[in-house]
Amino acid sequence: MNIVIIGGSRGIGKAAARELLQDGNNVLIVGRNPKTLEETGKELAGAATYSCDAGKAEETTGLVDAVKNGKIAGFGDNVDGLILCAAVFPNPATKTSVVQPEPEELQAMLDSNVTAYYRLVKEFLPLLAPGSRIVLIGSTSGIRRDRGGIYGISKWALRSYAYALREECKPMGIGVSLINPGGTFTETRKKSSEEDRSLLETSDLGKVIALTFRLSPQAVLEEVNIRPLKGDTY
Ligand SMILES: NC(=O)c1ccc[n+]([C@@H]2O[C@H](COP(=O)([O-])OP(=O)(O)OC[C@H]3O[C@@H](n4cnc5c(N)ncnc54)[C@H](OP(=O)(O)O)[C@@H]3O)[C@@H](O)[C@H]2O)c1
Repeated sequence: MNIVIIGGSRGIGKAAARELLQDGNNVLIVGRNPKTLEETGKELAGAATYSCDAGKAEETTGLVDAVKNGKIAGFGDNVDGLILCAAVFPNPATKTSVVQPEPEELQAMLDSNVTAYYRLVKEFLPLLAPGSRIVLIGSTSGIRRDRGGIYGISKWALRSYAYALREECKPMGIGVSLINPGGTFTETRKKSSEEDRSLLETSDLGKVIALTFRLSPQAVLEEVNIRPLKGDTY
């Protein structure tokens, strides 16, 4: 299978790339920072890379055209899987508040965590054949009712979108999965506190994401909530 991971150069997307490559898939990882992409491409031998900002339509159009025209070395001209992982995180100082952040912060969050996903799916859909998969990475902030802040607003919206998209994609034979992680340890954090040590590993998420591609074509993993055993971290 040919699988595109938007936000695959670090964190959860990179862990998914590792699992999917081990399964023998072709993987294209997309991120903004070319140096990180290059390093990850070397580390995950066999992964194709493409640098673009998923939030900028003028850049994602170039990505879709490059795939469609078979211009990405080591990757085909069709897509069997689209994994959407790139997101903006909240300001730690105000992450549970829906009063303190400015409206512009909410708008930026929605642009990155919802509108960009919406546009990418629209752009990639013509390249997705029956049997393909779309995997959206949400958050347990998108299922809890309190203290999710403006990040939670964006992930609740993404969840609503995932449910609607799944129904619309059913007649096309395309499966839509929503994976909602709780706190996950990524390279950007230091495992310095007890709380950090209780977080999920990115490999936990990599395995769950890879599972969506290991099932039979007639099965779809609709939604998974995966949390640290001790519960959410705030
Ligand atoms: N980590 C957690 O605790 C946690 C918990 C719940 C849900 N999640 C969700 O899981 C997903 C992945 O999170 P993560 O923790 O793995 O993030 P991460 O470690 O910060 O990695 C994000 C990846 O996305 C890329 N990226 C970010 N913005 C981008 C953009 N505008 N265009 C293209 N690529 C972009 C990054 O590369 P560049 O910076 O080079 O572009 C990187 O490869 C997100 O949807 C997040 O909301 C994470």
